[in-house]
Amino acid sequence: MKNLILFFIMSIAFLLNACANDGDEPDLPSLKNPVATTPSDITDNSFTASWNFVSTAKSYRLDVSLQSDFTSFIEGYESLEVTALTAEVTDLTPATEYYFRVKAVRESAESDFSNVVMVTTTGTIIDTDVNLKDKAAGNFFVGAAVSTNRLTGGYNDLLTNEFNSITAESEMKMRTIFLGPGDYDWTRPDALVEYATDNNLNIHGHALVWHVEVPDWMTTFTGSNEEFEQIMEDYIKTVVTRYAGKITSWDVVNEAINDGGGVRNTIFLDKLGPDYIAKCFQWAREADPDVLLFYNDYNTPADLTKQNDVYALIDELQADNVPIDGLGLQMHISIDSPTRQQIQDDVDKALERNLIVHFSELDVRVNPDGREIVGTLTEERDFDQRLKYKEVVDLYNDIPDPFKYAITVWGIRDPDSWIINQYDRPDWPLLFDGSFNRKSAHTGFLEGLE
Ligand code: XIL
Repeated sequence: MKNLILFFIMSIAFLLNACANDGDEPDLPSLKNPVATTPSDITDNSFTASWNFVSTAKSYRLDVSLQSDFTSFIEGYESLEVTALTAEVTDLTPATEYYFRVKAVRESAESDFSNVVMVTTTGTIIDTDVNLKDKAAGNFFVGAAVSTNRLTGGYNDLLTNEFNSITAESEMKMRTIFLGPGDYDWTRPDALVEYATDNNLNIHGHALVWHVEVPDWMTTFTGSNEEFEQIMEDYIKTVVTRYAGKITSWDVVNEAINDGGGVRNTIFLDKLGPDYIAKCFQWAREADPDVLLFYNDYNTPADLTKQNDVYALIDELQADNVPIDGLGLQMHISIDSPTRQQIQDDVDKALERNLIVHFSELDVRVNPDGREIVGTLTEERDFDQRLKYKEVVDLYNDIPDPFKYAITVWGIRDPDSWIINQYDRPDWPLLFDGSFNRKSAHTGFLEGLE
């Protein structure tokens, strides 16, 4: 009986003690305070925080702040639970002081805070109140894709302040200009050239030959291939001659190589034959001896087979002394792809061939495949986009001067971007928001020019 009473009293005492320790193992020593140690892998936008091992700790809680008294926290780094002895802290601003501290944790028990460590990210704080064209001045053009119905108000303010080059998003393509053999509608291309001249903007011509914007009358053309060739020669020479001295450069042929490689089967290949690309470049050169002539295509950094076939085409053209001056990489990319190295490898191949490089249609999607689709531009995606613009512009800026021409972004305001229809999902791929305000992406562009 006495033992039963004793056992009963012991178990009540044990239970009371367990409650008093609310779930922490009663006999474990209290948690020592961790020691935060020297941070490592410090970059413009990240660092690795580290601390020493605390025996009996199950995990640690990391705080990161801009203030040494932690009055506020960096998003995602307030009591961040970490089981390792290090944590990478990302999405930070260059040349900025940060503070971090940690606690040791075991069930409901936690230590006091560690010492506080200060760390300064690398890089330079840039003056963000600078226009893109001024920051790139004397280095290369900063361009934007435009349309005649978006040249006034906020568009005009940004075009004349931030940019010094324009490309027609659609209104210099065949479907707009070429109404029939010898029949041309110059209304909109003329308006764009006039706008550029009036505002001292460079203008890049886009695009003389593209399989997507072929006029209906041409797809149903029943004449001979010889007649078709004459029509094409007249078209290219008439357009290039009209704007000689006004338009600095042309995308002569756009997207002639298939995804995955091989020459794309188009009406031009069918009716003009396998050397149609060479013919188009020749005709453009005959029309204007000074205009820069580009071949333009997309997704070559990430699609190696396509990339190789683009360079095989260019090698053939150069071997036959066809007048090609440059290569346009459209750069319709995302925050995740292609990588810097992939873009660099593509650019290096162009430089090996002494080609001028144009990042001709840059936009950076924040809702790429493989990522959860976000319905608003989250701070995280906004920052990732800033880093991608910085990376791409920095890479372009490293190209030797004689081979630089322009970085052209494919639109001005996010809501106007072709990406939204093309991918049928929300996205914010450009440098300015719906109200013409600069985005972090704009800062990323400036940082890339640092
Ligand atoms: C796109 C325009 O942005 C759209 O507004 C239009 O409906 C279709 O063409 N590659 C090119 C560009 O070379 O001309 C395309 O522009 C986008 C892909």
